[in-house]
Amino acid sequence: MGDRWYQEAVVYCLDIDTYADSDGDGVGDIRGLLGRLDYLARLGVTCLWLHPIHPSPNKDDGYDATDFYNVNPRLGTLGDFAELLHQARNRGIRVIIDLVVNHTSDEHPWFQSARSSPDSPYRDWYVWADEEPPNRHQGMVFPGEQNETWSYDRTAKAWYYHRFYKFQPDLNMANPKVREEVKKIMSFWLQLGVSGFRMDAVPFIIELTEAGNPDSPKDMDFLTELRQHVQWRRGDAILLAEANVEPDQLPVYFGDSGGSANRLHMLFDFMLNGRLMLALARQDPESVIEALRDTPKLPQGGQWATFLRNHDEIDLSRLTAEQRNQVYEQFGPDEDMRLYGRGIRRRLASMLGNDRRRIELAYALQFSLRGTPVLRYGEEIGMGEDLSLPGREAIRTPMQWSYKENAGFSTAEPEKLVRPVIDKGEFSYEKVNVTAQRRDPRSLLAWFERMIRTLREAPEIGSGTTTHIDVPMPPGVLAHRADGPTGTMVFLHNLGTEDAEVDLSTLQPEADLPIDVLADRGYGDVGKLERLKVSGYGYRWIRLCRGQPV
Ligand code: GLC
Repeated sequence: MGDRWYQEAVVYCLDIDTYADSDGDGVGDIRGLLGRLDYLARLGVTCLWLHPIHPSPNKDDGYDATDFYNVNPRLGTLGDFAELLHQARNRGIRVIIDLVVNHTSDEHPWFQSARSSPDSPYRDWYVWADEEPPNRHQGMVFPGEQNETWSYDRTAKAWYYHRFYKFQPDLNMANPKVREEVKKIMSFWLQLGVSGFRMDAVPFIIELTEAGNPDSPKDMDFLTELRQHVQWRRGDAILLAEANVEPDQLPVYFGDSGGSANRLHMLFDFMLNGRLMLALARQDPESVIEALRDTPKLPQGGQWATFLRNHDEIDLSRLTAEQRNQVYEQFGPDEDMRLYGRGIRRRLASMLGNDRRRIELAYALQFSLRGTPVLRYGEEIGMGEDLSLPGREAIRTPMQWSYKENAGFSTAEPEKLVRPVIDKGEFSYEKVNVTAQRRDPRSLLAWFERMIRTLREAPEIGSGTTTHIDVPMPPGVLAHRADGPTGTMVFLHNLGTEDAEVDLSTLQPEADLPIDVLADRGYGDVGKLERLKVSGYGYRWIRLCRGQPV
């Protein structure tokens, strides 16, 4: 095991309220999740990222908190949460939680007080303007669902800023008291035992918003301050951030110009996500090769978090219009599958036509690329989406555990469920569920377990260096390698439909008993690496050589 746990972790993200309901009220809860920890341990995940757990009116699925120091009562109690941390740790699983401090719910007592009077001690905790800001209809994150970023509050008799929905007023990070509070919130959860935070909306947290200035300054030093704080309170805790910004901006989120890693430990690789989708759509790895080549070099200890799906739409905004259209054509042909003019609200299995070979290929590729893989609940069994639900809810349906009513998620009356289970079509719970796949050694779930287990034997992927192997390749095939002190892994992924043969004999001098450690089928001996077959949509993970243990 390397020195830093997050570099070799497998992160699994879930919403407690759609995962498992223990008390039959229709809403998933912490005790339900406790009952599924063994499942997660067997799957091989080492870190859970829990979507917001705080009390919330749930107008944005919990990303609108009313109390940062508690657990939403519908999920359980703080006591249940402490038990979850304990039980997870017993199984070698860490827990990180969503930290949503760019804004609060408008029902948060701080905002209620702030709006009530200019003299409120919380007035300056939010961002106000007396006059209507001229840029009030700019910078919306949810076009179509949100039409302004400044709204007038009649009680306050002033305009308040909200980067997201109207009911999510932004906290004023220029106020030292707010900064202190954020640190206090972090300390509280670290003290309880979380291993860090998935920090929501980081570019907006550090924005020092000025009314009328669409390009308000950003205070990067606040990230340095938070890192210092977290590191001191719990040395091995991490900050994994959502910062979907231009690639040349990314390095400063990891560290300052001195090249040190003194800010965020990890960032989601949104750039790679879009390019992975493009490569899958075109059946051509070129865009992934570009991503590998163009990603900025990270300071030591900095790490990417890779993903194919998360709880939001697939964001294609960093692709060109032409590229975006190619992805839409393949994976979001109907208008109804698209969202916010930039993305797709579908799960991976359905985008790939429920083609088992292609789903494996896509996940084998993600998990073999540099960085720490993040897997969204339900993807391991190939769940689909429910497009009859509004917006992003389509991909937030309950986990499908079994053939039982409500997919075994809850014993409540179906109309009481937090969200309906998928009960129609090829992704219905009767066809796609954990119980069925548990019994079948050839299931997608069994494959995920095997693949993750293989990853355990290939730490180079997480903590080593990944490079494209630049030798002539048949169309559709990507060859890359991961090198670390533990040795070298070589990967072939065929994004196309045609069977291919690859010549990697230039690597022969480095090879020491090379073998396939994971592949879509038995390919036999790797020989001298000069005639490596890889089927259409096939893949091979080859251990080239082992290094000296460190
Ligand atoms: C982030 C979350 C998203 C949420 C938004 C507002 O982008 O990923 O789900 O709606 O922040 O908090």
